[in-house]
Amino acid sequence: MENIEDIKKRILTEIAAAENLKSLEETRVLALGKKGCITEMMKSLGALSPEERKEAGRVFNVLKMEIESALEARKSLLEKAELNARLAEEKIDVTLPVRPETQGRIHPVSKIYEEVTAIFGEMGFDVAEGPDIEDDFHNFTALNIPANHPARQMHDTFYLPKEANGSRDIDDSYVIRTHTSPVQIRTMEKQRPPIRIIAPGRTYRSDYDATHTPMFHQIEGLVIDRNITMAHLKGCLYDFIKAFFEVDEIPVRYRPSFFPFTEPSAEMDIGCKKSKDELKIGAGTDWLEILGCGMVHPNVLKAGGIDPEEYQGFAFGLGLDRLAMLKYGIPDLRTFFESDVRWLKHYGFVPLDESSMTGGLSNNGGLAR
Ligand code: PHE
Repeated sequence: MENIEDIKKRILTEIAAAENLKSLEETRVLALGKKGCITEMMKSLGALSPEERKEAGRVFNVLKMEIESALEARKSLLEKAELNARLAEEKIDVTLPVRPETQGRIHPVSKIYEEVTAIFGEMGFDVAEGPDIEDDFHNFTALNIPANHPARQMHDTFYLPKEANGSRDIDDSYVIRTHTSPVQIRTMEKQRPPIRIIAPGRTYRSDYDATHTPMFHQIEGLVIDRNITMAHLKGCLYDFIKAFFEVDEIPVRYRPSFFPFTEPSAEMDIGCKKSKDELKIGAGTDWLEILGCGMVHPNVLKAGGIDPEEYQGFAFGLGLDRLAMLKYGIPDLRTFFESDVRWLKHYGFVPLDESSMTGGLSNNGGLAR
């Protein structure tokens, strides 16, 4: 039979050899558990004489304490090691660059949307929205384009089927909006001046070639307050266009134009240099049309429930896709909507490069590539 010293040695060796908390617990049960060898031996003390029992009891108690403290020491060591192993396994190297691993890309239209919103947001504009399916009143009539007005022909409108009531009145019909200008009316209907909004969104016209798609994107701008003049319009748009193309100066000119909902109306051109296979924006002697604008027509203010004697405003509309083509040198608009992943990889943007006026707009350091 093993003597006490041997037992002690054996158990302490087992404890020292326990590789994890589970096998340590097994060792503990085998020694000190209900049926453990030490426990069994202590039970046998009953058979001894009182003198012997006293002595042996002391020896066993010392042994038990030694084993318990060895178990305790080993346990805290193993716990520490297990925690460290877990920490090492779950470690994330926050210094690793994330960019090369980013798979998705931001579509150029979304990117331009972010850029334009960042610029006008800083000027104090809110973002307004309106429905894609518009009634005739908001898309045309309220914008000073009455039924049978020739200006309706300017927009190759998609009309929706007449409603079931069979009405023949043109004001009862629905269209998918031909421009974002109806949001001007919708904003005036629910907000009193001062108004300062941009309204980005989808617009639709029956047109299809390298620079036209049936669905495209516009951003509407509307400012209404007391004493608003054309000077405000020019200053605002000049600041916008400089910020957008990320240049300190840019030649601009306003050409007289016609929109039923603005009077006077203008188109804004920016200076550029066109050569055979390159377009350089911001310098040169050529001009590029960039947006339509004007002073809000009194009839439009009236249709929106605003007194034109008290308030004036300016409005502008720009093609988001067109801006994307110009800024990022994308030649064909149709490719925007073909969902070709290779195209998106080439022309898209890394999601983490957020556009802001302080952190940089396009993060490509300036003008188009
Ligand atoms: N709605 C016009 C268009 O689609 C653009 C525009 C908006 C012009 C606001 C003037 C003022 O062409």
